[in-house]
Amino acid sequence: MSVGGGLNLPPFFDVSVFETIGSTNSEARRLAEEGKIEGQVVWSKRQEQGVGRRGRVWSSPTGNLYCSLLLRPECGPLAGARLSFLIAVALQKAIAAELRNESDVKVKWPNDVLIKGRKTSGILLESKTRADGKLDYVVVGTGVNVVSFPEITDGLPATSLKYHGAHPKLETLLSAYLHNFLELYMKWKQAGFAPIRQEWLERAVGIGQRITVKLSDQTLIGVFSDLNADGALILRLDSGEEKLITAGEVFIVP
Ligand code: BTN
Repeated sequence: MSVGGGLNLPPFFDVSVFETIGSTNSEARRLAEEGKIEGQVVWSKRQEQGVGRRGRVWSSPTGNLYCSLLLRPECGPLAGARLSFLIAVALQKAIAAELRNESDVKVKWPNDVLIKGRKTSGILLESKTRADGKLDYVVVGTGVNVVSFPEITDGLPATSLKYHGAHPKLETLLSAYLHNFLELYMKWKQAGFAPIRQEWLERAVGIGQRITVKLSDQTLIGVFSDLNADGALILRLDSGEEKLITAGEVFIVP
């Protein structure tokens, strides 16, 4: 492990760099349990046990970006979960800055980043709540397909920055993401979720479109009419009824 990784970052961050690791999220959780303060970043060049959402494997060969950030926001788990929108915007900005056509890069509810409709980045939040109901910590893991991507996925088709003609150094991408993150995190602390929601909506796919939402026990079809003030997806069913979706997988109906 080395420290710093040659990144020029604000003092908020403390970066540990690994050539290989099981999962950067596991290491960041270990640091959290050790009592480390927020701003710890674990960055590894590859992962042997990369974890995705819903217990999926996150393919983690050398050349892509794998990092986890330890945060200790003073809020409860519901407000903390909205950090995933903030992270998605920070990543979207970092990735869009590398592409010729920035508008090819979008966010998809709740927190994927897409290039031309294909998934280039995933976010995994893991948190622990204290006895008083506030968050003890949140670990935000982000994986970005920079040079390669899995051909077969059990969700959205994947892509990489390289496939779209972008060849950023990992240091440049990580540093841009962390700078963007800190700016948004300060905004979130001062003004709450509203400005983050606005930035997310400006970059989102599917608003006003017909979508399919896969829930754990059923699949719904309707129009993605808006994101509510808490980050829930508002789905307008054909019956006119509006449903609030807080967890599920979204597919845009072509
Ligand atoms: C998803 O399924 O979309 C989320 C993928 C999150 C992958 C990242 S890679 C860095 C961090 N370490 C992990 O084991 N997972 C996250």
